[in-house]
Amino acid sequence: MTYHPSTVLITGATGDFGKAFCKRYAEIGCKIIVHGRNKDKVEALCAELETETYPLVFDVTDKQASLQALSSVPSKYQNIDLLINNAGGALGLDKAQDALLEDWENMISMNVTGLVRVTNVILKGMANRRKGHIINIGSISGNWPYPGGHVYCATKAFVKQFSLAIRADLQGTNVRVSNIEPGMVETKFSYERFKGDKDRADAVYANTTPLTAEDIAETVFWTSTLPQHVNINTLEVMPTKQTFAGLVTERDD
Ligand SMILES: NC(=O)c1ccc[n+]([C@@H]2O[C@H](COP(=O)([O-])OP(=O)(O)OC[C@H]3O[C@@H](n4cnc5c(N)ncnc54)[C@H](OP(=O)(O)O)[C@@H]3O)[C@@H](O)[C@H]2O)c1
Repeated sequence: MTYHPSTVLITGATGDFGKAFCKRYAEIGCKIIVHGRNKDKVEALCAELETETYPLVFDVTDKQASLQALSSVPSKYQNIDLLINNAGGALGLDKAQDALLEDWENMISMNVTGLVRVTNVILKGMANRRKGHIINIGSISGNWPYPGGHVYCATKAFVKQFSLAIRADLQGTNVRVSNIEPGMVETKFSYERFKGDKDRADAVYANTTPLTAEDIAETVFWTSTLPQHVNINTLEVMPTKQTFAGLVTERDD
């Protein structure tokens, strides 16, 4: 029997994936906790969604703000049965030896520390209620290294292994954990990675057919609405036109 979550917390809801997730869960009438770091964007999105919403504003790299905001969720929204850990992204594409330490630290802070912090807070309630699903937004970058991927790839490899490991601990609680690993999706991801260089970001998606945020929303929605005895552990999804580069061999002259 198909399962429908009732209260969904979506981190990074103001991003392109996040908005598509919100719209998909609003269609089935879920209560949605709409998270973002920008108050105006969060409130605008809440006003747009045709379902009950609660705005939650904090920067995932700020421990105190995160814990304070998460503990302020009103009782009506506290029984979260789906957490989508989506906030995050990549910074820079220079070679490791040329990369900025600040970018590395920020990626770890958003994609790893921020994600485990939200998970730690929400997971306890799910385990106690013996009901819930954590869907982490990983990436093919966690499986397939590429030049310039360094810390971004490593953070998404962390997300994959964290997802699998907590699943092992959750045996006996009925709580599900899934890691969804998208390939190239046209969003503002590249714009953020290239720090506002629109031409460089647009070039990533030029003359090909990337996935859309709606494709990933449908994948996540399917994963979360399978009957409760079914757990998708990891699911990698790429555009048909994207595939593997193979290994590179350096040759002497
Ligand atoms: N697009 C792809 O090709 C792709 C592929 C694989 C995985 N992913 C992953 O998918 C997720 C969503 O990415 P997207 O493509 O939808 O990009 P996006 O449109 O740039 O969305 C990123 C979201 O994360 C939020 N965010 C970033 N840093 C934050 C922080 N410190 N505190 C709170 N929120 C923060 C952003 O907030 P603002 O709206 O305020 O900027 C935005 O809501 C990311 O985890 C990304 O790594 C993307």
